[in-house]
Amino acid sequence: MEKSGSKTGKKSRKRWITDWWPNRLNLKILRQNCPNQNPYGEDYDYAREVETLDIDAVIKDLKDIMKNSQDWWPADFGHYGPLFIRLAWHSAGSYRIYDGRGGARDGSIRFPPRINWPDNVNLDKAIRLLWPVKKKYGRKLSWADLIILAGTVALEDMGVKILGFALGREDVFEPDESPDWGPEEEMLTAKRGEKEKLERPYAATEMGLIYVNPEGPGGNPDPAESAKEIRTAFARMGMNDEETVALIAGGHAFGKCHGAGPAEYLGPDPSSSPIEMQGLGWKYEYKSGKGPDTYTSGFELIWSPTPTKFGIQYLHILFKYEWELEKSPAGKYQWVAKDAPEIIPDAYDPNKKHRPRMLTADLALRFDPKYAEIAKRFLENPEEFEKAFARAWFKLTHRDMGPKECYLGKYVPKETFIWQDPLPERDYELIEEEDVRYLKKRLLEELSVKQLVYYAWASASTYRNSDRKGGVNGARIRLYPMNEWEVNHPEELKKVVKVYEKIQREFNEEQEAKGNDKKVSLADLIVLGGCAAIEEAARKAGFSVEVPFVAGRVDALQEHVDAEFYKAIEPFADGFRNYFRNPESIDEADVYTTPEYFLVDKANLLTLTVPEMVVLIAGMRVLGANYNYSDYGVLTDKPETLTNDFFVNLLDMSYEWRAADSYRYTFEAVDRKSGEVRWRATRVDLIIGHHDELRAVAEVYACDDAKEKFVRDFVSAWAKVMHLDRFDLWRNNREL
Ligand code: HEM
Repeated sequence: MEKSGSKTGKKSRKRWITDWWPNRLNLKILRQNCPNQNPYGEDYDYAREVETLDIDAVIKDLKDIMKNSQDWWPADFGHYGPLFIRLAWHSAGSYRIYDGRGGARDGSIRFPPRINWPDNVNLDKAIRLLWPVKKKYGRKLSWADLIILAGTVALEDMGVKILGFALGREDVFEPDESPDWGPEEEMLTAKRGEKEKLERPYAATEMGLIYVNPEGPGGNPDPAESAKEIRTAFARMGMNDEETVALIAGGHAFGKCHGAGPAEYLGPDPSSSPIEMQGLGWKYEYKSGKGPDTYTSGFELIWSPTPTKFGIQYLHILFKYEWELEKSPAGKYQWVAKDAPEIIPDAYDPNKKHRPRMLTADLALRFDPKYAEIAKRFLENPEEFEKAFARAWFKLTHRDMGPKECYLGKYVPKETFIWQDPLPERDYELIEEEDVRYLKKRLLEELSVKQLVYYAWASASTYRNSDRKGGVNGARIRLYPMNEWEVNHPEELKKVVKVYEKIQREFNEEQEAKGNDKKVSLADLIVLGGCAAIEEAARKAGFSVEVPFVAGRVDALQEHVDAEFYKAIEPFADGFRNYFRNPESIDEADVYTTPEYFLVDKANLLTLTVPEMVVLIAGMRVLGANYNYSDYGVLTDKPETLTNDFFVNLLDMSYEWRAADSYRYTFEAVDRKSGEVRWRATRVDLIIGHHDELRAVAEVYACDDAKEKFVRDFVSAWAKVMHLDRFDLWRNNREL
């Protein structure tokens, strides 16, 4: 680490609040990347800018720079393609299904911690090599798009028939601190469980890796054990066995591993390097420190005789030879083909040849029976292999972008994939104001305020901005597996869905009878139910409000649901509904922190600000929209009425709060005078009175002059959540 600061050489180090109180609930992730921190300005609209990009010109420039070796970082085999593929892969491959975080969509591989991860050594150079292209296209081309495009163009340039490419990834300008990457305090260590037992939401097996240790689990060079880790890690990335084999065998058709000399000559990561390094890291002080003398992973090997040309050579070599364990010049375990001739070219010296070599993680594809079966099939059917690789690559690099309507540019493939959460096209007219009024009335006749609020929230709040999945559009809540999620009250849900369907059917039949082509979708009806309930609850509190609603949602069919994915991501906490799966029923590997931590985590996925999160909690409680309609946090004598009572009673000094269970998840408020239990609440409720910043917001809303403000702010936060998945609206720049 660089020593900077005072002339005496002593480090002056300010201590932050987080240094003093590391366990204080950190709300920073609710105010990351605020629009006023975007150097392009608050009105910057990347989607609009990138639509004017001449992508063919970018592709041409990329192809040129790929083959233009720079002295400051020479290209192996005269082609940067493999390095760019590794950059794109590491940008996308940190994605994990459980929270949709990681991935390529925001270009956050440019920032800590990812830029500093030991697995990303020398990707700082890859990014710098792309700088001339970024510089040329400026605001029209984000780093996030450029990085994935560079990897994809590299594949094409080296012979892969790619599926296509979508633009539309907007850059962030500060590190994304929302992902929990693991509890470890040191890189390349693991405290997150073994192989199949990896804790949620992690996908990598060690801190600082994208996926698994290439040397084998914890450095143990056992290919069969490595396969187990790979299976777990890639499944967390949303990849099945076939996709995993295609990706590894396709990726390692190219390039090489770098470990020319000992690790001790390797300098610190970019953030720890001295200022004159200008953001680059890992200076290698061994011989020339670059080109043939590079240290990246510490392995020194080349997989294929044609490392800049796609093909089945990797698979061919994998199965043909007998493998012997050896150590790289840097001292890492790797495998050499014992009985192979020297058929592998050198990256720099045309007169040198090598024997084929592989990583333990490569041999996993041969020594795991399931992987081997797929790998052999690919070996025998090169075309099938190429197709499988191209499809898996497209999924890898696009799966965090959301539905297809978020894809931009002329190279978007026509084909639709299940992981894109496809929706049917609307082929009818939308409901109008008068219909909205009528339908709200009908909904209030059939269902209670708390039910309408509960299911609208249940549907919409599945949205996660991390990978733009979930949301109310499609009304997937009525389909498997969301209809079986515990938090959705499966038994009651069945009945409630029947009611929605009845109202829908009656309305649509009526319209048809009138000769109208107008219909209402269940998804719109679910949102309307929430609007109707909130308006009614506000009326009871003495306020007349209209909850913003934009019609246009459609209903998915079961075949549109990526069931395996949605089954895997069933939540075990939703603070907004005061839901936390019974601690005794939770697998320990599932829960690693507190309900209030999950509340903030979910608020971040819903793009909520601190005040929005607080106001939503308070509103949901007085509306009675709790899991199992419990009274936890319902701090009001007039439930289903939109008052600020939650805040008033939470901050009322007449009560003393006491823990009510040994986990300290639930609490009771005792009247200081009478000693009677007056209210019950959970940690999620009490954190709002306890945490200094949340309390400051609560105080605003608890004041006598804030009753109406509370209603208005609740309504706008609510409407925001209901419309998070309406990409059609933001594409058309429509405000709510
Ligand atoms: C390079 C490991 C999957 C593409 C490497 C290197 C390692 C490695 C250790 C050497 C880095 C260096 O020293 O320069 C692994 C492991 C994987 C995996 C353990 C999974 C189990 C993938 C996938 C892709 C990929 C899925 C792409 C689809 C590449 C490429 C290089 C590379 C192109 C060469 C980079 C260069 O020549 O500079 N990989 N990898 N790898 N990997 Fe992977």
